Amino acid sequence: MPYLSPALNVMVGAARRAGRKLIRDFGEIENLQISMKGPADFVTTADKRTEAMLVEELQKARPGYCFLTEEHGAIDGPDKSHRFIIDPIDGTLNFMHGIPHFAISIGLEREDQLVSGVIYNPVTDEMYVAERGHGAYLNDKRLRVAARKKMNEVVLATGIPFLGREGHERFQHELSAVMGVTAGVRRFGAASLDLAYVAAGRFDGYWERGLNPWDVAAGILLVKEAGGVVTDLNGGGDALMGGTLLAANESLHRPILKMLKDAARAAG
Ligand code: IPD
Ligand code: CA
Repeated sequence: MPYLSPALNVMVGAARRAGRKLIRDFGEIENLQISMKGPADFVTTADKRTEAMLVEELQKARPGYCFLTEEHGAIDGPDKSHRFIIDPIDGTLNFMHGIPHFAISIGLEREDQLVSGVIYNPVTDEMYVAERGHGAYLNDKRLRVAARKKMNEVVLATGIPFLGREGHERFQHELSAVMGVTAGVRRFGAASLDLAYVAAGRFDGYWERGLNPWDVAAGILLVKEAGGVVTDLNGGGDALMGGTLLAANESLHRPILKMLKDAARAAG
């Protein structure tokens, strides 16, 4: 059984309740998908409503804590030593297209250190939790990153830059370096779940650029608590706020980092 601190318990409850509502919203998408207007406005509303539900419930349980959220940015509170970092729907594009791969992600920082994390996929009812120093779990199962060491056996996840994002050419260099030497590369479209899958040993590694702290806060803790290594793409410790990230097991992290750095350098 996972160890749930009182705060993590509150986070799990909030994610579960918000997830139930999200599932009902997701059911609506199919109808909207075929309408001329499309589901965009509906999804924006669902996103905002989910975030409001989460913030309200967490504020009630932990009055005074600060927040950093996708929809509102920073919400200040008198207790500066605690901050919730929330993505109400990570994988919004999947959600909007009726693809059942998205999650609620909540991280909690104490004194600028990630201490608790929850990633909940309401479609599969997979609840990923981690508490600093107490391991990472998927439902009741303890998680360990995959032990694979041979590059030709690994499956890596990534995020492909899209319209409006920079670095398309650099990504093409990175991808061609990686795809020639690995068993496969996946782009599933929800950074939080990419990290949760690394923690669960489903993916051997994951890299992306252009990330926000709410995409990765809970996932960084999950991977570390599952025995993995997480850095930014310079190999430094700025994966939460710095916008770039590489997560992998201890043996693979260094060679993958080198491969990506060399590729990025070649792109100029
Ligand atoms: C996005 C997803 C996606 C990643 C993007 C994120 P959102 O978050 O995590 O996988 O490639 O960088 O912005 O917008 O769906 O919450
Ligand atoms: Ca996100």
